[in-house]
Amino acid sequence: MATLEIGSARKAFPALKSGYLYADNAGGSQCLGDVVSRISDYLLHTNVQLGADYFVSVNSTNRVASGAEAARELFNAESVDEIVYGSSSTMLVENLTRAIEADIQAGEEIIITGEHESNAGPWKRLAARKGAVIKLWPATQLPEYPNNPYAVGLQLDTLKPLITGKTRLIAFTACSNILGSLLPVEDIVKTARALAADAGVRKLEFCVDCVAYAPHRQIDVRRWDVDYCYFSFYKVYGPHTSVMYVHTPALTGSLTSLGHHFLDVDTKPYKLQPGGPGYELVYGCTGVPPYLRSLTPSGTLEDAWAAIATHEQALLEPLLEYLRGKTERGVRIVGEEQAGLGRVPTVSFVVVGERAIKSRDVVSAFDRKGNVGIRYGHFYAYTLVDMLEPKVDVNDGVVRISLVHYNTVEEVKRIIGILEEVLA
Ligand SMILES: Cc1ncc(COP(=O)(O)O)c(C=O)c1O
Repeated sequence: MATLEIGSARKAFPALKSGYLYADNAGGSQCLGDVVSRISDYLLHTNVQLGADYFVSVNSTNRVASGAEAARELFNAESVDEIVYGSSSTMLVENLTRAIEADIQAGEEIIITGEHESNAGPWKRLAARKGAVIKLWPATQLPEYPNNPYAVGLQLDTLKPLITGKTRLIAFTACSNILGSLLPVEDIVKTARALAADAGVRKLEFCVDCVAYAPHRQIDVRRWDVDYCYFSFYKVYGPHTSVMYVHTPALTGSLTSLGHHFLDVDTKPYKLQPGGPGYELVYGCTGVPPYLRSLTPSGTLEDAWAAIATHEQALLEPLLEYLRGKTERGVRIVGEEQAGLGRVPTVSFVVVGERAIKSRDVVSAFDRKGNVGIRYGHFYAYTLVDMLEPKVDVNDGVVRISLVHYNTVEEVKRIIGILEEVLA
């Protein structure tokens, strides 16, 4: 098993040289120097319209096409014709719900979660337009932690009874941006497809939010057997642009084009891409896979993700151990309490009880240090936070410390040191 060489990993990120402790990575990661160079090179040398026959345009066209290939590789999709670029994940899902509208019938059911609203709001609005029914798959208390009501997660047994012969689409997250928990996507899809088929379903599709997943683990849309899947490169060491995978049968059989009527897009991702994405950003994304491949001697993405997962566990364990040790002080981890491969180092907690502390005040203590960035709130997983019992003020939300592979064990110690002061 290859280990991550943290020094060279960090060198690839110019922002990390300052020594600032970036611990709000689930909000957005730092950007690779190579990605920035590619963006600037595109703008300085190939900034023309795509699709013409002159030399520079051919070069630009190829560069933008290589952005689709980079995303294809990260999704493990079969074809670049299954890759859509857009300005944000939120916008991509909104576009998807417009394009799928004609294939949603009144009375059909769409299952959503309380996780990040990008995979909920657009489906709610679609259901309202079409007379479809929204069902919520709630995060429920994990049986392993009977003493912590905030140790919640999405559990397959809670999903099963929601599936009927009318289920048309299940929209869920592969990883929670608050709880840090990873979902067994393949199992969920297999189980749901079997249950729905037994119930005589017309058509069942899955839309999986991988925004909080993609910085930590390898996506595999083919193994997962999902129809739509998306993530944002600004959380995966790239620029502010996002990608969606659309499985070919869904592209051709479920979606109506959002593109101009005279464009021949029936089997092309342009169906979901009304207008060009930011070309320089798309090209910039081509810097992400080579960086990941550079992380281990084998040069494979598989080994890179394995090395990242191992390093991240080393960050997670001391932080969770420290927080579990503060139970009497009123600290409650929101989500899975133990490190392990079912979890990434996105750690949220609240401080309750007689000496409760607002999440905002915990974060202020970090802000006063001036060299550590963490954040509080609901992080757009509004429904998840709003449904926590006993209630927390949804806008004050949780304290979230979110680490990625370029964080170090020394940084975790610094974070714990500040928490020691706050929780004294
Ligand atoms: C889990 C999750 N899904 C979706 C999004 C939305 O991504 P975007 O900002 O690209 O719309 C975020 C952003 O924080 C997120 O954390």
